[in-house]
Amino acid sequence: MAVIADRCPGIQVTVVDLNAERIAAWNDPDLAKLPVYEPGLDAVVVRCRGRNLHFSTAVEAAIADADMVFLSVNTPTKTKGLGAGQASDLRWIEASARTVAANAQGHTIVVEKSTLPVRTAEAVQAILGASSPQAGSNGAVPTFSVLSNPEFLAEGTAITDLENPDRVLIGGEDQEAIDALAGIYGHWVAPERILRTNLWSSELSKLTANAFLAQRISSINSIAAFCEATGADVREVAKAIGTDSRIGSKFLQAGPGFGGSCFQKDILNLVYLCRHYGLEEVAAYWEQVVALNTWQQHRIARLVVTKLFGTVTGKRLAVLGFAFKADTNDTRESPAIRICRDLLEEGAQLVIVDPKVGAVQIAKDLAQPSIDQDPLVQGSDDCGGWKMAGSAVEAATGADAVLLLTEWAEFASLDWEGIAAVMRQPAWLFDARARADASAARSAGLRVWRVGEG
Ligand code: UDX
Repeated sequence: MAVIADRCPGIQVTVVDLNAERIAAWNDPDLAKLPVYEPGLDAVVVRCRGRNLHFSTAVEAAIADADMVFLSVNTPTKTKGLGAGQASDLRWIEASARTVAANAQGHTIVVEKSTLPVRTAEAVQAILGASSPQAGSNGAVPTFSVLSNPEFLAEGTAITDLENPDRVLIGGEDQEAIDALAGIYGHWVAPERILRTNLWSSELSKLTANAFLAQRISSINSIAAFCEATGADVREVAKAIGTDSRIGSKFLQAGPGFGGSCFQKDILNLVYLCRHYGLEEVAAYWEQVVALNTWQQHRIARLVVTKLFGTVTGKRLAVLGFAFKADTNDTRESPAIRICRDLLEEGAQLVIVDPKVGAVQIAKDLAQPSIDQDPLVQGSDDCGGWKMAGSAVEAATGADAVLLLTEWAEFASLDWEGIAAVMRQPAWLFDARARADASAARSAGLRVWRVGEG
């Protein structure tokens, strides 16, 4: 929405949320307090805030004023009830559709921006259509058009992805509404990049795009394990296959598995829908993409234990990176979570460094407080613990191994001589992203494991 405001000075954009604390943070003059860390976002907010970008808790008034409403609420995986663990929880979509139905005036275009299961628009349309026809202030009964406009941006590159999208997808039936939304993007996106489809294709394209991207990562990670077993190098294999223009070179980086708020959730949702439509083989096919991803994370934790003489109980391990990828403070489904939990279970003492993720978030993700906050676990050999450090050297001091789990740029140029000097020998570097300078680490005397290197 900030980018729309930036590119369309003639359009007033109001972002509303029930959460007053979040809205206050978006309005805070101190840009460090913006709720989302995203390179370039602060500059866009500074340019537009107060001009044509507003943040408010006045949800109903903003809907009444709007010609177009974007539903951009979260749709997490259900944790209980029908479809638990796979289906999307649509309670917030339904609640916001009802709020729109109750407050809209005149004709309102309702845009599904959240990632939704295919055919959700049907439910949204039904809710909007069933609203008791109340005449608005001008005496007219409100009417609605529903469009699907999924978002393909990736975190960390959100602003550039939005400014130069590969494509914008608009699904719908009402041509006038489609033209109105295409007109907004048309301020900065070339017309041939604005694709128009029916509602169901648009909703399904988002799930499919994420499923294909995640599938590539599971594919390359499966080959990484095979490379380790056979003496091949997954980066050489990736390069060799990626130069085939039919395959392409992107999204072939082996690592600790995919994280983030979308891939797993969307595939599980796809799996759930396939089963719903009786397509068991199709469901099983996509389910395996997630199974392989989970396996890769457990595999990395297991091999750390194996290489450290079969035990990490009471051993200090430095963990570099906790975010699910570089340039974000987001830890949702981060591979670091499962790997760290496995190692804690084995009794390891983890010392974690991440340029953007703080202790409060890590305590939530690992479901246990840091050693600093809970000194009772300190010194107990059976019970794993964790704490944070300010630098890689501090984390590595006295450690038996360094685990690199997020590909932050600063981890590419670490001083391995200095790090090796403060570690307990024999010491290991486990580089799950192949990001560190492995030859420098080896020259400094470390034993090195890199993902996908046989
Ligand atoms: C993804 C999609 O890319 C985006 O289009 C969609 O809108 C939301 O989901 P995001 O989750 O922000 O975006 O990150 P992305 O860059 O796709 O990475 C997802 C995960 O895959 C990360 O954990 C990343 O480290 C991992 N990854 C990515 C790899 O392991 N190897 C790769 O080659 C690429």
